[in-house]
Amino acid sequence: MTTLRPFTCMDLLKFNNVNLDPLTETFGLPFYMQYLAHWPEHFQIAESPSGEIMGYIMGKAEGMGENWHGHVTALTVSPDYRRLGMAATLMSWLEEASEKKQAYFVDLFVRVSNKVAIQMYKQLGYIIYRTVLEYYSGDPDEDAYDMRKACSRDVERQSVIPLTHPVRPEEVD
Ligand SMILES: CC(C)(COP(=O)(O)OP(=O)(O)OC[C@H]1O[C@@H](n2cnc3c(N)ncnc32)[C@H](O)[C@@H]1OP(=O)(O)O)[C@@H](O)C(=O)NCCC(=O)NCCS
Repeated sequence: MTTLRPFTCMDLLKFNNVNLDPLTETFGLPFYMQYLAHWPEHFQIAESPSGEIMGYIMGKAEGMGENWHGHVTALTVSPDYRRLGMAATLMSWLEEASEKKQAYFVDLFVRVSNKVAIQMYKQLGYIIYRTVLEYYSGDPDEDAYDMRKACSRDVERQSVIPLTHPVRPEEVD
């Protein structure tokens, strides 16, 4: 049986099986602590009966006015537990937390080359809102898609009208 529970700082000591994935970013300790302190309700973990980390989602709530939204900073599922609906469950948790905070939409950034994740987000109702040029540093840098899904507060669905032009990272608020 899978247990869904809040992520704790102790989980940082045993998430290697998930974070070794090349598409899963590992941040510095203060970054995780900031999320645990400010947005614990957006940081959830799926754990196996033996205590193994199956996957987790880390996010936050941010923005002003009609830009008030939930943001997915990291979503990852261990290769051993993929295609079981784990990511869909974690996403729905964060969407529900964003609904409770009366967000207008939920968004995330994804590498344009990450076809599996893009396909998954589309399946979950997300649209490509805009392209962010050279968002990911590397050799070469890589563009990101900023994908969005409207929450029920955005009755007119204004937040998911795609931009017609790409933007630079410094233009992203
Ligand atoms: C992307 C990722 C989170 C998906 O996790 P998951 O638990 O396997 O996804 P789910 O089982 O919830 O899949 C939900 C839907 O997404 C789509 N999907 C997921 N993985 C897919 C794949 N490998 N190929 C095609 N479609 C896929 C399917 O439509 C799936 O529904 P279905 O199984 O009923 O057909 C996982 O592959 C992963 O951790 N990748 C590495 C990290 C990463 O890329 N994170 C996202 C960064 S923005």
